[in-house]
Amino acid sequence: MIIAIDGPAGSGKSTIARMLAKRLDFRYLDTGAMYRALTWKAMQKGVNLEDENALCRLMDETTIEFQGKDKNLNVFVDGNNVTREIRLPAITNNIHYISNKPGVRQRMVKLQQKLAATGNTVAEGRDMGSVVFPNAERKFFLDADIEERAKRRYAEFKPSHKEVFYADVIKDIETRDMRDTTRNNSPLVKGSDAIYINTTKLTIEEVFNMMLKEIEAIIHK
Ligand code: DC
Repeated sequence: MIIAIDGPAGSGKSTIARMLAKRLDFRYLDTGAMYRALTWKAMQKGVNLEDENALCRLMDETTIEFQGKDKNLNVFVDGNNVTREIRLPAITNNIHYISNKPGVRQRMVKLQQKLAATGNTVAEGRDMGSVVFPNAERKFFLDADIEERAKRRYAEFKPSHKEVFYADVIKDIETRDMRDTTRNNSPLVKGSDAIYINTTKLTIEEVFNMMLKEIEAIIHK
């Protein structure tokens, strides 16, 4: 069974996807981490981020793997644990070079489908319901007002990045929204078959329970 969760940055996808995967004992597939991982490697190797052929070749010779579970889920690139590094702003700011290349996306989609084929999966990203898992048993689209999403990101960053400013976080989210929704290839879209949840005024537990109810309804069908 595949549960597909899409939505913009800060909508609560990752937190909820992790919680659902844990409760249901499903695999959690963080596809954003995969785009981050390739961005990390391209930057390490000094690959020209505008060169689609070079990025496709890089993807072909790169191993992206997940190991562990729940809080101990780690992302490895060619055996190197990059879990922390791929969250750095330098990576976030450059992902769009990677994620707008059709050849790279094709390869990512194949790998994501292969990983999900190993068992029940909660997959989270931008094109899960539309492109990667069009036949997912349940599709969700999580959303929230931009101020709320920025507030969440700010609270997340503040303890570890003392220099972060709310105004910068909101600007960053605006830029990412624009890039995610206007990209030519697999832009973030809400399909008519996805359950739409606006999480602005909801607690994590409320969102979790709403989604769990929807999923359990099909498990027990
Ligand atoms: O979910 P995240 O913030 O870790 O994702 C990082 C970026 O990766 C996001 O801004 C767009 C891209 N992405 C994508 O293009 N397709 C996906 N399925 C997941 C992420």
